[in-house]
Amino acid sequence: MLKPIKVRNFLSQKVGVLVPLLDEELISDKDVQQIKNIFNSHDVYDRLFKRTLKNRAFTLENVKRYIKWSVTQTLNKNNITYIIRDKNTIVCGGIDLQKVDSETATIGYWADPKTPGFITNAVKEIIKVAKEIGYKNIDAYPEEGNEKSIKVLNRLDFKYVEKIIKPDKVLLKYLTS
Ligand SMILES: CC(C)(COP(=O)(O)OP(=O)(O)OC[C@H]1O[C@@H](n2cnc3c(N)ncnc32)[C@H](O)[C@@H]1OP(=O)(O)O)[C@@H](O)C(=O)NCCC(=O)NCCS
Repeated sequence: MLKPIKVRNFLSQKVGVLVPLLDEELISDKDVQQIKNIFNSHDVYDRLFKRTLKNRAFTLENVKRYIKWSVTQTLNKNNITYIIRDKNTIVCGGIDLQKVDSETATIGYWADPKTPGFITNAVKEIIKVAKEIGYKNIDAYPEEGNEKSIKVLNRLDFKYVEKIIKPDKVLLKYLTS
């Protein structure tokens, strides 16, 4: 059973919590608005959504669909999503673990640019969860030039594996086991 996990912000040293998205009721209207703001922030939007949304803004409806889908996926453990809440319970990031096969999962993450400092520690916690579930390998695919993401992986001893060239972008595969 997935449970909330305490996580410390490296910069502020304040303690937040990683909450598995197991129930839509855990997400208030205020959370939906906050996630919308984070997803539309320059850092996150450009890296994660710009291409698929073709420069259209992430709407409240998009966020609600994202939450619904994430809860379903987390309940059946295909794609596990945790949100990070700070000490005032404000959503300030998220981590997801996507099943590739029985031995491998891909990790992804996003953060409120106004609240840096949680992600490396949060990813470390979710890697422990992944190991408990039985995954042997965790990989990640930051885009070439995504230095913020690459720094997270370097801090956690992920090793660079290879460059993956897609029609519209170049991804860097990193792996830890
Ligand atoms: C990638 C992303 C999640 C990183 O968020 P972040 O807040 O910079 O990450 P962290 O909390 O780990 O680190 C913030 C700062 O805290 C410090 N820090 C955090 N944990 C630390 C640790 N264990 N040891 C030392 N310093 C640490 C560092 O100073 C770090 O800044 P630096 O990376 O410039 O050195 C964020 O930039 C983002 O949302 N990007 C858009 C989405 C994205 O690219 N996702 C990844 C797709 S693969």
